[in-house]
Amino acid sequence: MILGIETSCDETAAGIVDADGRLYANVVASQAKIHAEYGGVVPEVASRQHIRDIEAVVSAALKDAGCGWSDLDAVAATNGPGLAGSLLVGVNFAKGAALASGKRFVAVNHLVGHVMAAFIKQPAGDAADSEGADSVQDAIGARHCKVMALIVSGGHTELVVTEGSVRDGFQFKLVGETRDDAAGEAFDKAARTLGLGYPGGPAIQHAAEGATYTGSFKLPRAWLGGASEFSFSGLKTAVIQMARRHGIDGSAIDAAGDLVRHHHVAAIAYEFQQSVVDVLVTKTLRAASDHGCEAVALVGGVAANGPLRTRLVEESDLPVLVPPISLCTDNGAMIAMAALLNLREPGESEFDAEVVPSLRIG
Ligand code: KG4
Ligand code: ZN
Repeated sequence: MILGIETSCDETAAGIVDADGRLYANVVASQAKIHAEYGGVVPEVASRQHIRDIEAVVSAALKDAGCGWSDLDAVAATNGPGLAGSLLVGVNFAKGAALASGKRFVAVNHLVGHVMAAFIKQPAGDAADSEGADSVQDAIGARHCKVMALIVSGGHTELVVTEGSVRDGFQFKLVGETRDDAAGEAFDKAARTLGLGYPGGPAIQHAAEGATYTGSFKLPRAWLGGASEFSFSGLKTAVIQMARRHGIDGSAIDAAGDLVRHHHVAAIAYEFQQSVVDVLVTKTLRAASDHGCEAVALVGGVAANGPLRTRLVEESDLPVLVPPISLCTDNGAMIAMAALLNLREPGESEFDAEVVPSLRIG
């Protein structure tokens, strides 16, 4: 049994998986409401809130899994990338708990965690929640495989060739990333421009569902000549200009009034989401084919986006691993799952591991 702790941004999270990668607990305390007031994550507020929440979150995970400290084999925590002060809370808590309980401490790369979420096995009965991925996951994770993982989160948009197996471990090779903004960052900035609040991803998705007529609201797609790289800053500027043309100034629209503005916001949100999804799906499937991958994985907070999940599954000829939403947004179970890779070999606790805010993958 492995306990994984995640505090890299604004979620205080703890999860537990066993040596087969089966999920036993996944507890998340989100700070989204606290940061919403400021329109984005305030680092100092985040680290202080992690300190308040971490003990209760870890206790709840142990309770859900029906185990105590003595049943654990290892304690893992994200040591980067992320906000330095936030990372420190999880890493120090995990080191202290490991030291006190005599367990091995493992430092985990947050991005490896996101990718490994695609291989977590759901408890029996919950498979429907993972959109049929459980059997595909079992088949793909169990033997040597080559998977194109699209990591889309608030800070990252990366294509990572993930080769290996859950039992023997994986090699990660970064083959594409964003030149400027991350996909989640683009969702958050577009939402702010449209007065939809924070976090922007769910708000944009919700607003887009209310769109009726979108024909005249055309936004660009950054194809970058077919490269495996991404760019979202041009789209962000186009949203700002379009919003300005339609008299949208970023202030919230009250539900009662201003139907025209409601309509325009919904239409722009819809077209923005279409633009991001078009580019992510097309580039991921092309890269998977170029690199001879046999499956595709969609992970990270933006992988919670409904149209992105649906379109990738619909348009892919390859099997698609899409974790349930609770394992796409930041969580501790993915950190425990990633720690499994380190635990295949006997070893010492990594008590000298520091937090690395700009840690990379591959
Ligand atoms: O992976 P994550 O939870 O934290 C980071 O590591 O960044 O990702 C957070 C990002 C935010 O930008 C949020 O707006 C986005 O994921 N997100 C979504 C959705 N839910 C969360 N983006 C689009 N559609 C969603 N439904
Ligand atoms: Zn993340």
